[in-house]
Amino acid sequence: MGEVILQMSKIRKSFPGVLALDDASLTLRAGEVHALMGENGAGKSTLMKCLFGVYRRESGEILLSGREVSFKSPREALDAGVAMVHQELNQALKLTVAENMWLGRLPRVRRLPFLVSSEKMRERTRRVFSELGLSIDPDVKMESLSVSERQMVEIAKAVSFDASVIVFDEPTSSLTEGEAEKLFEIIRLLKSRGTGIIYISHKMNEILRICDTVTVMRDGRHIETRAAEELSVEKIIKLMVGRDITERFPKREKKPAGELLRVEGIGGEYSRLKSASLTLRSGEVLGVAGLDGSGRTELIEAIFGLSKRRGGRIFLSGREVMNRTPAEAKKNGFALLTEERRADGIFGIRDIRDNITISSLKKYGKRIILDERQMSRDTKEYMKAIKIKAPTERTKISTLSGGNQQKVILARWLLTDPRVLLLDEPTRGIDVGAKHEIYLLINRLAESGRGVIVVSSEMPELLGISDRIIVMSGGRVAGELLASEATQEKIMELAAKYA
Ligand SMILES: Nc1ncnc2c1ncn2[C@@H]1O[C@H](COP(=O)(O)OP(=O)(O)OP(=O)(O)O)[C@@H](O)[C@H]1O
Ligand SMILES: [Mg+2]
Repeated sequence: MGEVILQMSKIRKSFPGVLALDDASLTLRAGEVHALMGENGAGKSTLMKCLFGVYRRESGEILLSGREVSFKSPREALDAGVAMVHQELNQALKLTVAENMWLGRLPRVRRLPFLVSSEKMRERTRRVFSELGLSIDPDVKMESLSVSERQMVEIAKAVSFDASVIVFDEPTSSLTEGEAEKLFEIIRLLKSRGTGIIYISHKMNEILRICDTVTVMRDGRHIETRAAEELSVEKIIKLMVGRDITERFPKREKKPAGELLRVEGIGGEYSRLKSASLTLRSGEVLGVAGLDGSGRTELIEAIFGLSKRRGGRIFLSGREVMNRTPAEAKKNGFALLTEERRADGIFGIRDIRDNITISSLKKYGKRIILDERQMSRDTKEYMKAIKIKAPTERTKISTLSGGNQQKVILARWLLTDPRVLLLDEPTRGIDVGAKHEIYLLINRLAESGRGVIVVSSEMPELLGISDRIIVMSGGRVAGELLASEATQEKIMELAAKYA
């Protein structure tokens, strides 16, 4: 690692009613990959936005290559060699990939500087993409890409500025495993060029794999900075939450009862799902494992009627249900927390209460008007149950930290009081402490006789919270394991069966 290129000290920043940063510091060297960790709402994104000129700090000092800086806009930060990949995607979906790459710095036609050279734009995009090993067509509209491809474009854009400091704010939360590997290669490349990298993530294994240094924040303050090799998952957790979490996966007392849901030979009309069958008992947590593209997401989407089904039958308590549409599935007592909730689940301009109650408005019908007091009461209860960090239940959702936004969407589905809860990556982007709360909540739901199906790519999580695990491979169920006898190796073996 080289010399210090960035030094942020004693940064303070508040918002109405919230002291987001109290005394935050971070030192970054050239060629260093520096993890910034902390619970949801700890102030990680805010600190980086203070660096990047999105927010103005109230006090504190930022030195870039020894010179004090105070960027008034992201533009200024970029010009000075600081780039950032944001936690939320903010792209012009109607424009092409190439246009998004060069937005704000469009290459001009020589001699006719008022004309944008689309030729140059395309060619430069191709050059960046090929250097990074991306196979995305620069000419297609942004909206035709998947969320994970959009994220890769965003990453490529940040890299294309040739910055000396790049901030990645939870870059892998919407990437496939293959794309995440590609990102790690890109990070290795940047590191070898001497770029300093700040990496924010809640994925412990990722952090310990690619980072040199870890800084932990809590409540807007710097807590600790250490070399990654001195740390373990347990030590990081302890620093983040400020106490020992003795059991990462809480135990459930009650055993599962009789059959609640049976799915027979369900396939997807337009998806990779070929044919899958499963049963779910009331009081049971069924884990769904599998690699990306194995059809695990498609399976629960087909059960929920979100994607068109080909064949197969679904029985709830022995009675056949059709679940042709999500609305019908919801009426039948199903709820689905989708994987892409950040892209399609949030009503940004509304407050927490509206976002939580929006799928349960019927409950609050009081003659013509809505029972707002009850809405507020329920919202507050859920905010407490899963520790949503916000000043009040009427706080705008867009001002919450990323992880807290996710919790709001989870609460929305819990409030519909489903009999079968389908969760796709329920703890993605959520910090360890809050993960624990969500596991407790899943346990409570199961113990009250509901059935829960959890898709997760985090194997320790699946092993820790499921009673039983089915493993998807190539659009089919490759096998089933009792959690008590399952291991990561056994799961991987099944996952490769038809892949
Ligand atoms: N624009 C804003 N207006 C009001 N409050 C805000 C705003 N941005 C952030 N906050 C508040 O500042 C605190 C820190 O939020 P921040 O987004 O920095 O957390 P984070 O550490 O990035 O969390 P996560 O892991 O969930 O992304 C939170 O309490 C959040 O609600
Ligand atoms: Mg954040």
